Amino acid sequence: MDVLVTGGTGRLGRLVVERLQDGGHRVRQMSRRGTGPGGVRGDLATGRDLPTALAGAEVVVHAASDARGDYWEADVAGTRRLVQSVDRDRLRHLVFVSIVGVDRIPYGYYHAKYAAEQVLLASGLPVTLLRITQFHDFVDQLLTTARRGPVLPVPMGWRLQPVDVAEAAAHTAEVALGAPAGDVVEFGGPEELTAAEVARAWAAARESNAHVVATPVPGRLSAAVRDGGALPTRGARGRRTYAEHLRG
Ligand SMILES: NC(=O)c1ccc[n+]([C@@H]2O[C@H](COP(=O)([O-])OP(=O)(O)OC[C@H]3O[C@@H](n4cnc5c(N)ncnc54)[C@H](OP(=O)(O)O)[C@@H]3O)[C@@H](O)[C@H]2O)c1
Repeated sequence: MDVLVTGGTGRLGRLVVERLQDGGHRVRQMSRRGTGPGGVRGDLATGRDLPTALAGAEVVVHAASDARGDYWEADVAGTRRLVQSVDRDRLRHLVFVSIVGVDRIPYGYYHAKYAAEQVLLASGLPVTLLRITQFHDFVDQLLTTARRGPVLPVPMGWRLQPVDVAEAAAHTAEVALGAPAGDVVEFGGPEELTAAEVARAWAAARESNAHVVATPVPGRLSAAVRDGGALPTRGARGRRTYAEHLRG
């Protein structure tokens, strides 16, 4: 299979690339710089080099995102540009990597991801919208930046179900090689945890001086996460727990 992975240099994308290459597929990994083995350049925010990058692709895994930049341009308008640039005669399946809760949690980046999903559903292309929960290493990164000296404040009552990124990548590759669902599918970790449980486990393993303080956070976003908006409701589950990730 001739596969293009957008965001092929990212946390998830690079593991999807490895997985598909190991399976004997011809894989190109797209990013703005076009680095890495099989690297091709393509910028979703401007459209530059997109048609060349997408030429001949039978499967597209769309895992690029500019979460910290102008995500309306890169993720939403960029997905529109992607739709216009795909080789419709060759394309068998386009998998969009999204996030569990984009339809339920009122947060700017999630609104953009949801809007990108709608672009794909309206495109007439053979798509699957694969919503995944937070990756373990992303959670680690959030906790590292949340720490304030000896105190590690976390939102009280937030419910999470983080997942191992390698398992998420393996599942993404498997979905990409299967038939398009034409709809949303979900993938999450094996267990539901509160943010405080996650933070205490992280602190015990990595920062034993950090004291976890669960803090009430007002607002609609926080209420949605407390109500389970970030938890998967269906679909497959990874096996590796957050505790195992920390031990690893
Ligand atoms: N992080 C999580 O916990 C999590 C959970 C569930 C779902 N997701 C979703 O999974 C996907 C991958 O997440 P990640 O954490 O692996 O992302 P990441 O590490 O931030 O990687 C983002 C990728 O997108 C590329 N990119 C950014 N802007 C671009 C542009 N304008 N044009 C082309 N490529 C661009 C980056 O490459 P260059 O910078 O080299 O161009 C990089 O390869 C995202 O769609 C995200 O929403 C993430």
